[in-house]
Amino acid sequence: MLELKNSGLPLYIDEKNHVMALSALLKYDGFGRKTVEKMQGLLADEHDLPLDELVYDVYRGIAYPEDEELLKKDDYRYDITIIMPGQVNGECKKTSGHYHGWNPEKTNTYAEVYEVIKGTALYILQKSDNFDAEDPADVRVDDLIFATVHEGETILIPPNYGHCSVNIGDGPLVFSNLAYVPCPVHYGPVKQFHGMSFYVMVENGEVKLKANDRYVDVPKAKFATVKENPHLGIQFGLPVYESYKKNPEAFEFLGKPDGFVDEIMSMLVYHDELVK
Ligand SMILES: [Fe+2]
Repeated sequence: MLELKNSGLPLYIDEKNHVMALSALLKYDGFGRKTVEKMQGLLADEHDLPLDELVYDVYRGIAYPEDEELLKKDDYRYDITIIMPGQVNGECKKTSGHYHGWNPEKTNTYAEVYEVIKGTALYILQKSDNFDAEDPADVRVDDLIFATVHEGETILIPPNYGHCSVNIGDGPLVFSNLAYVPCPVHYGPVKQFHGMSFYVMVENGEVKLKANDRYVDVPKAKFATVKENPHLGIQFGLPVYESYKKNPEAFEFLGKPDGFVDEIMSMLVYHDELVK
């Protein structure tokens, strides 16, 4: 068992099967598992799929019992996702991908915090102002960012960006998310295009991006890494769980995205090419 130290919590991962163990000091609400079979309809190449192979596990609602009241008051939930190593027909293992719903004012969709605890993540961020269009043929992607996040770093998913997490490292990818519970989560707008606008492949040992032809007029991709912003509670080396407990007000952007969009976008650092 390997301790997941970057989480700041007593969490452990079995190095053989990548199953997580939680200390009895923690409570958690539920567990979900996605196999290749359940990812059908989202994968780059669906010929002869290894249907029983594991893609990712999600452990929902992790907290110390004494923190439950604070999380409930703010309406936040802390989850851990583990994406298994390897590829499915050459495609890096990934989560389903989704868009968040609108805030009540319909000015922005909700943001989210993703903290990479172990491994290397590539987050596909695709902005669409009309992801919920009645006719799927009308849906357009307005901006496309591939953000690489290394172990110990945290990304804020900007409001209005659909997102998908991809494991581009050699081992398992373990990340936490802190999310606003009332935020609706829409999987349909990704599924109707058979995934995000790009698939992340490995060819001859190299990570390569492959366009999903079902999308039209996709803007030129941007490549990014991330930087800290203590004002929004994000300091690399300080686990998100601890940062939130220390200063819950810093995470106000989760439930009230208006007024934080530019600040969240400014935490992305752009590069000329995909960062590994
Ligand atoms: Fe999300």
